[in-house]
Amino acid sequence: MTLAKIQVWDPFIRTIHWLLAATVLLNWLADSPLWLHTWSGYLAATLIALRVLWGFIGPENARFRRFVRGPYAVFGYLAGLVRLSSQRYIGHSPAGGAMIVALLVMVAATAGTGMASLAAMEGHGPLSAVVERVPFPRTLGQRRPPPLIREVHQVLANVTLALVVLHVAGVVLASFAHRENLIVAMITGRKRSE
Ligand code: HEM
Repeated sequence: MTLAKIQVWDPFIRTIHWLLAATVLLNWLADSPLWLHTWSGYLAATLIALRVLWGFIGPENARFRRFVRGPYAVFGYLAGLVRLSSQRYIGHSPAGGAMIVALLVMVAATAGTGMASLAAMEGHGPLSAVVERVPFPRTLGQRRPPPLIREVHQVLANVTLALVVLHVAGVVLASFAHRENLIVAMITGRKRSE
């Protein structure tokens, strides 16, 4: 017997998700050539802004008020998930919702500090009007010390990647717990209805 399926993720959410995943992975893997890294970062920042907007005006399952829950619900869900006995949600689970907020904040912070690094080191980019360029010694053979903001950018990028690993692990675990391939659901937009 085939179970009825319903549309859960709209095409806009799915497009944003996979483009965001691609840009985050590309940016993490390649910090050169710089033009590719920066333009992929601008795209990631734009996708985050669109997703946040969609969280207020998009369809019900896309809205933050639908899936952002307090710590009690998040830890309650996780406690059930490790025993593979958590409640199934049609939209995002409370833990999924918390991870989404963390990912959106971290990708935005990584992109923002990336733009600030570009302004500090090269004197261009969208933040060059507000972030001063760091002067560096011109003596031959002297290495240019990276500005602090660049170190912050790298730390945030690594934390974001760690969150992505946890995100994918959570998706795989929830797929087992609910006997439903959530990755396919994020591609087709459809989940079984009950
Ligand atoms: C690499 C960077 C990634 C980022 C920044 C990211 C971010 C997100 C975000 C923001 C959402 C919420 C979707 C929405 O409501 O807009 C989400 C959901 C989801 N992501 Fe990712 N994702 C990434 C990679 C991946 C990968 C590699 C996979 C699968 C292999 C994946 C599978 C999923 C699935 C299945 C959901 C839906 C979870 C559910 O059913 O609640 N993601 N992701």
